Amino acid sequence: MSNHPTTDVAGNGSNKRLLVLAVCVAALVAIGIATLLVNVAQHKQEAKTPFFKTVELTNTTDDPATWGKDFPLQYDQDKRNVEMKATKYGGSEPVVHTPTNEDPRTVVTRSKLEQDPRLKVMWAGYAFSKDYRERRGHAFMLEDQTYTERQKVKQPGTCINCHASLYTTYMKLGEGDLIKGFEKVNQMPYFEARKLVSHPVGCIDCHDPQTMELRISRPAFIEGIRALKASQGIQDFDVNKMATHQEMRSYVCAQCHVEYYFKGTEKRLVFPWAKGLKMEQPSLITTTRSSKTGSTQIRERPCSRPSIRHSKRGARAFTRGRMSPARIATCRTSAKAP
Ligand code: HEC
Ligand code: HEC
Ligand code: HEC
Repeated sequence: MSNHPTTDVAGNGSNKRLLVLAVCVAALVAIGIATLLVNVAQHKQEAKTPFFKTVELTNTTDDPATWGKDFPLQYDQDKRNVEMKATKYGGSEPVVHTPTNEDPRTVVTRSKLEQDPRLKVMWAGYAFSKDYRERRGHAFMLEDQTYTERQKVKQPGTCINCHASLYTTYMKLGEGDLIKGFEKVNQMPYFEARKLVSHPVGCIDCHDPQTMELRISRPAFIEGIRALKASQGIQDFDVNKMATHQEMRSYVCAQCHVEYYFKGTEKRLVFPWAKGLKMEQPSLITTTRSSKTGSTQIRERPCSRPSIRHSKRGARAFTRGRMSPARIATCRTSAKAP
């Protein structure tokens, strides 16, 4: 009997302890769930801004030095584009240049016209016969284009598409419409367009400033790749939405490192890919040159009957210095092939 109350008390005690324990466990679980939810929310937020940023980058930040504050490693590597040395892959060798008022550069690259003087004869009448040099790193693209003697021929603003950071210029001129801005720049004289740019190709030309995803900023590429995909049965290809990441890694470079021409009086930059990329597929470009004015007319036309024989003949004439190089790539559309 005397045990009962003790048992009862002990029973009450253990019930209470159980209750306390249950409350504690419940509290811990609640805290655990809350922490998890906060954590998930944080990670979601982090996923939106995947980088630690010291400065805010926007669609108007065109100075790579500002991007460099958030991405010092990539910026340092980008700056190494000023290095000039020959490697087994190419590279470039510095040639000392005495600065003049017309051309203030102290270092240029080797002249291909001096290396092979036949080029001067072959290209007589073309701007290329005045000056054609080895290429060098991206850091020089703007000044090399500004001071090349090919500027002695009046050049259009279109030239600048591949030699400067242009995303912000296009967007500003086009009032938010990239293509409109592009069309305006194309139609300006080169040196008017030149005033609107200040950097060689920059981070903003290949990257979205918020996500750092690769993006295409050059209308000629957007239009060229759409035409190419259409020829493969894919309609309305939007490169910035539909290309794979792997494709984009090549595409960003192909915004500039491709064959091109200036179409019509509006001097639109065109990549002639509407029939495919192979030699026998593209709508080939034919060049005719007026011997009187020295001006060049360019036409794009479908290549229905590619002529290898003709190409060979063209190539032989080219190496003998009799023919302009544009005629090597030719196709027979009539009995009178160019
Ligand atoms: C906005 C146009 C543009 C884009 C985009 C571009 N390039 Fe260039 N690239 C040029 C120009 C112009 C030159 C020549 C500059 C000069 O000679 O002054 C050049 C030069 C080069 C050279 C020669 C360097 C040397 O020392 O001889 C290499 C290699 C190169 N680019 C690779 C690339 C790669 C890889 C990409 C993509 C990640 C790329 N480029 C994207 C315009 C561009
Ligand atoms: C579609 C892009 C594109 C356009 C448009 C373009 N360039 Fe270039 N340019 C390049 C690339 C790419 C190189 C690097 C050359 C190479 O890869 O061999 C280059 C190299 C050069 C060079 C340095 C080597 C040399 O040829 O002496 C000069 C100067 C130049 N371009 C001037 C011009 C001028 C002038 C125009 C307008 C008539 C022009 N570029 C239009 C892409 C372009
Ligand atoms: C001509 C185009 C081009 C330009 C200009 C360019 N990038 Fe890139 N960037 C690329 C490509 C291509 C990659 C590789 C993407 C991949 O492989 O996933 C890349 C990758 C990166 C990455 C991701 C690196 C990683 O390990 O995933 C960062 C960050 C970056 N670039 C920053 C910059 C900065 C900063 C600048 C300007 C100083 C710059 N990029 C200029 C094309 C460019």
